[in-house]
Amino acid sequence: MKFFVDTADVTAIRHLNDIGLIDGVTTNPSIIAKSGRDIMEVTKEICGLVTGPVSAEVTALDYDGMMKEAAVLAKIADNICIKLPLTIDGLKACKALTSDGHQTNVTLCFSVNQALLAAKCGATYVSPFVGRLDDINLDGMQLIRDIRTMFNNYDTLNTQILAASLRNANHVSGAALAGADVGTIPPNVIEDLAEHTLTKNGLDTFMTDWAKTGQTIV
Ligand code: E4P
Repeated sequence: MKFFVDTADVTAIRHLNDIGLIDGVTTNPSIIAKSGRDIMEVTKEICGLVTGPVSAEVTALDYDGMMKEAAVLAKIADNICIKLPLTIDGLKACKALTSDGHQTNVTLCFSVNQALLAAKCGATYVSPFVGRLDDINLDGMQLIRDIRTMFNNYDTLNTQILAASLRNANHVSGAALAGADVGTIPPNVIEDLAEHTLTKNGLDTFMTDWAKTGQTIV
């Protein structure tokens, strides 16, 4: 499963990218608002940090407005992926932008039927939101499994499943086991994936035993 980092925090993106963990970045209007920065400026900076796709979301709700905003966003860099809401206008814009050769990410997907529509409109990625379904006591991960099954039924649906709204390490492993192509993950959750009590305890023991030898590796 590819990892996108779900943030506009350039320090965090640079750090995770230097480790080699990042295949792309996703943003949304709330993430840009949280960054406190200008969308064009921060998105351009992010596009310069990573080689993979950087999702930048339109904020217009109508087709014409989405297409105008997409044209502006697409000029930021070659690795921009235009993020569109899963509405009829968003799907129409997805179809047009994909046909023009742009990468597209159809977001706010909460059902198999919505994912099917995104795929039929040629979306590069569809983003089912796991955490937000869990928030209302539905099974977010089951949606990833169901979309995987549905896509596997057809050779013609080439849209990648971008598991979104992943809020913890269990969400990440669940998405990978369910066959998501990509998970978009907040920076702190990516770092959490490395944690295990037995790793920490084992390392403590190794260091204690090593100190007793008085040796250094030179
Ligand atoms: C990314 O594309 C989504 O916008 C993001 O993962 C949503 O996460 P949230 O539900 O935690 O806000």
